[in-house]
Amino acid sequence: MTNARLIAPSILSADFGNLQRDIEMINNSEADWIHVDVMDGVFVPNISFGFPVTEVAFKHATKPLDVHLMIVEPDKYLKRFKDAGAASITVHVEACPHLNRTVQAIKELGCKAGVALNPHTPVAMIEDIIKYVDLILIMSVNPGFGGQHFIDNTYKKIADLKKLADLYNPNVYIEVDGGVDATNINKLMAAGANVFVAGSSVFGAPSASDMISTLKHT
Ligand code: DX5
Ligand code: ZN
Repeated sequence: MTNARLIAPSILSADFGNLQRDIEMINNSEADWIHVDVMDGVFVPNISFGFPVTEVAFKHATKPLDVHLMIVEPDKYLKRFKDAGAASITVHVEACPHLNRTVQAIKELGCKAGVALNPHTPVAMIEDIIKYVDLILIMSVNPGFGGQHFIDNTYKKIADLKKLADLYNPNVYIEVDGGVDATNINKLMAAGANVFVAGSSVFGAPSASDMISTLKHT
């Protein structure tokens, strides 16, 4: 497990009329990855964006795109997201009946492979896949929208996951997504997380770039 703390601002909360500007802000900030939230209106009750916006983000980004697919049947679209610029592709365990196959397909494309868990899904669900993946994403809100209230059970869940990671894949990234801000990031890190997605806390701050630095160092 790396000791580094990685910050991944989510462009779901960016200004899509000024996406290039917001991506350049992230490029010039202390952010590590750029989190890209894709929603299909089926797996989650919201539709965000797909390939064209991901391509625009990639065109301007100097940091890796961390693509989070909140969609059913992600296998159909893995290659397209790779081609759109994804460095890592994360799929939901709840959306993948053949998760081992999906993870293999992501890795064969040359991307980092991630698996996400909804708030109600126990970490035991990934016990037999964790050794094959590069990251596990713990949803700390119900996926679908930015700006939601952080679910308190997340601390316990990350601690459970850290134990599994120490057993089976100590280098796996433990990413937390939803309601992350300067008030909870240190406690999440103490529980075992090391990648922090932040949407509204970054883009809602007076200076998004300063907030990224605060999250990185607080
Ligand atoms: C929620 C998305 C998140 C979202 C986080 O479904 O997966 O990545 O952008 O937004 P905040 O940080 O506002 O909770
Ligand atoms: Zn996300």
